[in-house]
Amino acid sequence: MRRVYLDHNATTPLDPRVLEAMLPALRQEHGNPSSIHGFGQRARAIVEDARAEVAALVAAHPTDVVFTGSGTEADNLAVRGVALAAREGRRKIVYAAFEHHAVGNTARALGREGFPVEAVKALPGGQVDLDDLAARVDDRTALVCLMLANNETGVVQPVAEAVALARRHGALVHCDAVQAAGKLPVDFAALGADLLALSAHKIYGPKGVGALVVRRGTKLEPLLRGGAQERNRRAGTENVAGLAGFGAAARLARSQLGADAARLAALRDDLEARLLAIPDAQVNGGAPRVANTTNVSFAGTDAESLLMALDLEGLAVSTGAACAAGAVEPSHVLRAMGLPMARVQASLRFSLGRDTTAEDVALAASVVARAVDRQRAAALARR
Ligand SMILES: Cc1ncc(COP(=O)(O)O)c(C=O)c1O
Repeated sequence: MRRVYLDHNATTPLDPRVLEAMLPALRQEHGNPSSIHGFGQRARAIVEDARAEVAALVAAHPTDVVFTGSGTEADNLAVRGVALAAREGRRKIVYAAFEHHAVGNTARALGREGFPVEAVKALPGGQVDLDDLAARVDDRTALVCLMLANNETGVVQPVAEAVALARRHGALVHCDAVQAAGKLPVDFAALGADLLALSAHKIYGPKGVGALVVRRGTKLEPLLRGGAQERNRRAGTENVAGLAGFGAAARLARSQLGADAARLAALRDDLEARLLAIPDAQVNGGAPRVANTTNVSFAGTDAESLLMALDLEGLAVSTGAACAAGAVEPSHVLRAMGLPMARVQASLRFSLGRDTTAEDVALAASVVARAVDRQRAAALARR
């Protein structure tokens, strides 16, 4: 059976060129980057090369890049790190309701620990409601969290506007750019955010490697205590091979960005047109969107069972649902956009990638059309 993978927002395959870049670090460079001797120095050089590449991907300065063990850790470090370093009287955390759980759950945990925390509404098209944001940000606000591209809808957020608003009140801004990097040009300085999270496995790099870009002078309490690695921002011996991969992935993402985005936009638009030809299909999320993502609801279906049926036919997609303690929690992103529960539970995310072909798109669309038909017919028969 031919398998089609349209779940690149969950994770991307390791690019073979990234694997090649990782192998020397795994095979012969076993030194600890903190060691003074030659073994250590060679490992240090790998880490610093990676830092320069990751910085270049987002037009940041290499010394601003703090490597972490995941995008999730980068988000946790940003949100908790700023909160714990905040002074009395400026402790409020404001975050968009559709942020990834790495941000949202960290903010809510801080709320339970006594920090004032507020969630900002989304507009029906999936962008943050800037009026609601303006109403919530005040002179007691320590941090505003707004992601650059949403992982479920691909909708790109008005981060520069949010930064301008936060600045008027002296608040810092954290931007989760995990789903934007490699899909959009990201310029840390132009964006104006103080903190920016990245993850290697979303850009054809290895899993378990991330980075937080931190503007110089930003007060941040570290999450991990130990050695002085990462300029005292993140203790722990660096994942040298993982970082070699992150650096190579960042270099490729930068050099291929334009070509990848143009090709993916054409494929995504083709897929979307084919899916919208299915009766009662609707796209969730408006412009602007990253090129590779479409989120579509098929009225009267159940996305969870649809996903399983598609998997049996070799097509991998996803729902925005999260599985917590055995119970499936419907997409908080689509809920935040005000979609009715029935539509949320009938929605699938398709995310294309560097390896996706026109044949994949055509096959995926016909497999989905058949599965939706079957499910609707079965539902009618049960009536
Ligand atoms: C927007 C966003 N932020 C953060 C993360 C977490 O990154 P990681 O998987 O590296 O922990 C993800 C991954 O799904 C994501 O999509």
